[in-house]
Amino acid sequence: MRVPKVLNPLYQKKLLKRFGVYEKVLPVETTPSRFVPQHIVKPDYVSGLSKSIPKRPEIKDEEQINGMRKSCQLAASILNKAHSFIQPGVTTDDVDDLIHNFIINAEAYPSPLHYKGFPKSVCTSVNNVAVHGIPDLRPLQNGDIINVDITVFFEGYHGDCSKTFLVGDVDDKGQELVAVTEECLFEAIKLCGPDVPFCDIGSRIFRHAKRKGLTVLPAFAGHGIGKYFHGPPDIFHILNRYPGLMQPGMTFTIEPVLSHGRENTYILDDGWTIITEDGSRTAQCEHTILITEDGAEILTR
Ligand code: MF3
Ligand code: CO
Ligand code: CO
Repeated sequence: MRVPKVLNPLYQKKLLKRFGVYEKVLPVETTPSRFVPQHIVKPDYVSGLSKSIPKRPEIKDEEQINGMRKSCQLAASILNKAHSFIQPGVTTDDVDDLIHNFIINAEAYPSPLHYKGFPKSVCTSVNNVAVHGIPDLRPLQNGDIINVDITVFFEGYHGDCSKTFLVGDVDDKGQELVAVTEECLFEAIKLCGPDVPFCDIGSRIFRHAKRKGLTVLPAFAGHGIGKYFHGPPDIFHILNRYPGLMQPGMTFTIEPVLSHGRENTYILDDGWTIITEDGSRTAQCEHTILITEDGAEILTR
C-alpha cells in the first residue's frame, strides 16, 4: 500500500475538529546546562553521596514536615512568578534561565538539573509534548499551552509543582483541557485524608476526565517526595489497585496528564521528551500535598 506523505485534507480537518487549533512541536536546538555555584547544597544524585530512598511510604515528623513546607512554598512562589513571564516570543530556554536564577538566588538547587542526566533546570512541555520537555530555543507562539514543572531542593528537601499556562489566545478546546486537568487535581486532593486508599485518587481522576470526554495518560504517576525526589507511594491517575492507605505525615505529589486523544505516548531520541502518538495536546498540573489528621494540606499552594 502507498502511504501518502501529506495527510488527506479531509482527514486533517477532522483531526483539527477533534483536537483543536495549535502547532505540533518537536524539540529544536538548545543551550548548555546552567551553572550552579559551589556553595549551593546539591541533592545526592548530583553530589555522588549515597542515596536513601525509603522502601515504604514515609511518615514524616514535625521537623521533616517543616522542611517540606519550606521547599514546597519556594517551588510554588517561583512557579507563580514565572507565570507573568510566559508570553509569545519568549523561548522555553528563557523560561529555564529565569527559573534557574530564581532558584539559585533563593540558595536552592533546581532538582531536574543532572537528575538521571536531565540537562536543564526545569521541564517545559508545549502542546503535544506530554512531559519532560527540555527547554530549547523555540519561541512560544500565540495559542500554545505550556506546562512548567518546577522542583527545588531547599535545605535538604524537594518541593515539586507544575501548572499549564495559556500563551496569548488559546482556542476553546485548549482552555477546556487545561481547566478540566486542574479540576481533576483538585477533586483528587479533596478526597485525600487518613485511611483513604492511594488508589482512590486514580479512580476519582479517571471518572472526572471521562465525564468531560478527556483521556488520562496512564504512563505518568505521582510519587512520594522528601529528601528524595521520587519514592513510594506511586500515585496512579487511572483505575488501579495500588495497595496502601494514606496516613498523617505522608507527603506525595498528584500530577495528572490529560489529552483529547488516545493514551499512547512515546519518548524521543533525546531520552526525555515524551510526546503523544496522535499529536493531540496534553495538559498537566501538579501539587505536593501533606496528609493531615483531618484531610490534606497543599504544600505547594
Ligand atoms: N518534576 C517531575 C515530576 O513531577 C520530574 C522531572 S524529572 C526530570 O516528577 F529529570 F525530567 F526533571
Ligand atoms: Co514535577
Ligand atoms: Co512530581
